[in-house]
Parts: sequence; structure tokens; C-alpha cells
Amino acid sequence: MSASLTEHSVPSEDPRLDGRAVKRIVYDASAINARVQSLGEEITAAYPDGDLLVLGLLKGSFIFLSDLVRHIARPLQVDFLVASSYGDAMESSGVVRLLYDPETELEGKHILLVEDIVDSGRTLNRLIELLGERKPKSLEICALLHKHIATELHHPTRFIGFDAPHEFLVGYGLDHAENFRHLPYVASLQ
Ligand code: IMP
Ligand code: MG
Repeated sequence: MSASLTEHSVPSEDPRLDGRAVKRIVYDASAINARVQSLGEEITAAYPDGDLLVLGLLKGSFIFLSDLVRHIARPLQVDFLVASSYGDAMESSGVVRLLYDPETELEGKHILLVEDIVDSGRTLNRLIELLGERKPKSLEICALLHKHIATELHHPTRFIGFDAPHEFLVGYGLDHAENFRHLPYVASLQ
């Protein structure tokens, strides 16, 4: 289940933007906070027993994950993955390389892969394949945002924060050329 879209205008005085164009706020800090809290509650209820490893895909998930885990009321561990896709020509074949591989043992654990946004779904497809080979007890995806345009997703996204508009979004971890990750809201650049 995901919450509906809320739209707000961008505070023109936000010094974080340094005059750069951000069209509008799509999810403000309080909408995000409320949704992340209820996602945490959903996740708490979904995992009754066993070891839970929350695995954040860097860099985009860093803020979302840090807020989310504080709303999951059960024992868990946290680790991160760094993945890189090759250039555009290779990307369509779904070639993804792990630049940082979690040191934690995955076998026998519930793995919750946390992603900022699902767009084409190519990165996730390959990661799910790689992680599945480590024999986790279960493997689920939690994404803050989902554009619902991926046609070739092999694994459903179990937990979704918001159904996102088909626009380029920044803030709350999401970047454009490494900028805007620190915005406390999600905004559209288009
Ligand atoms: P996919 O493999 O096409 O699903 O790509 C997902 C990755 O692309 C995300 O983890 C983001 O890093 C990036 N991405 C996709 N859409 C957006 C967007 O609207 N804003 C910022 N980053 C995006
Ligand atoms: Mg990015």
C-alpha cells in the first residue's frame, strides 16, 4: 500500500538550493515522516521471527534507511551495498558490479533491500539475483519511491513509500549529479 501524492510549492528562500531551479516539492518532510513511520510499522508486523538484515543500497538510500530503521520495532542489523552499473550500452543488459559487498553473512537471514527509487528496475533485477545466490531465508525490497514504469521487474517491491510521478526527483537522498541529496523533502526538477 502506498500513500497518495501531495504537492507543495518550493520555499523560494531555501538556502540549500542556492538559487537552482527546483520546480515543486512533491513530498514534504512531514508527509515523508508520516509515511516512513507507517512503513516501519508494516515491516515490524511482517517479520515475526528470525534474523533481519536491512541492506541499504548506497548512496541514494542513506537518509531513508536511517529514518526507517528507527521505526522498525524488532532486533535487526544494518549493512550497505554499493553497486555500479556499466555505461549506457551495458546497462540494458543489466550488468551490475558490487563495489562494496556486505561483510555480514546473508545465509539464513531475512534480507530487506532498501532502495531510494525504482525506475527501470534493472539495477534491482541484477542485485536480487546476486543476493539470492547467498541463500537468504527471505529477500524483499523496500523502496521509498516507485515510478511503476518498470516492465521487466523480476521481483515485486514488497514495501513502497510513495507511487512517484514520472518526473526526475531529488532530495531525501536522491541526487542529480550528486547534488540535492540533503534536501529534507522530495522535489521535482521538471
Ligand atoms: P533503475 O535501475 O532504472 O531502476 O535505476 C534506479 C536508480 O536510478 C535509483 O537507485 C536512482 O539512483 C536512479 N534514479 C532513477 N530515477 C531517479 C530520479 O527520478 N531521481 C534521482 N535518481 C533516480
Ligand atoms: Mg543516483
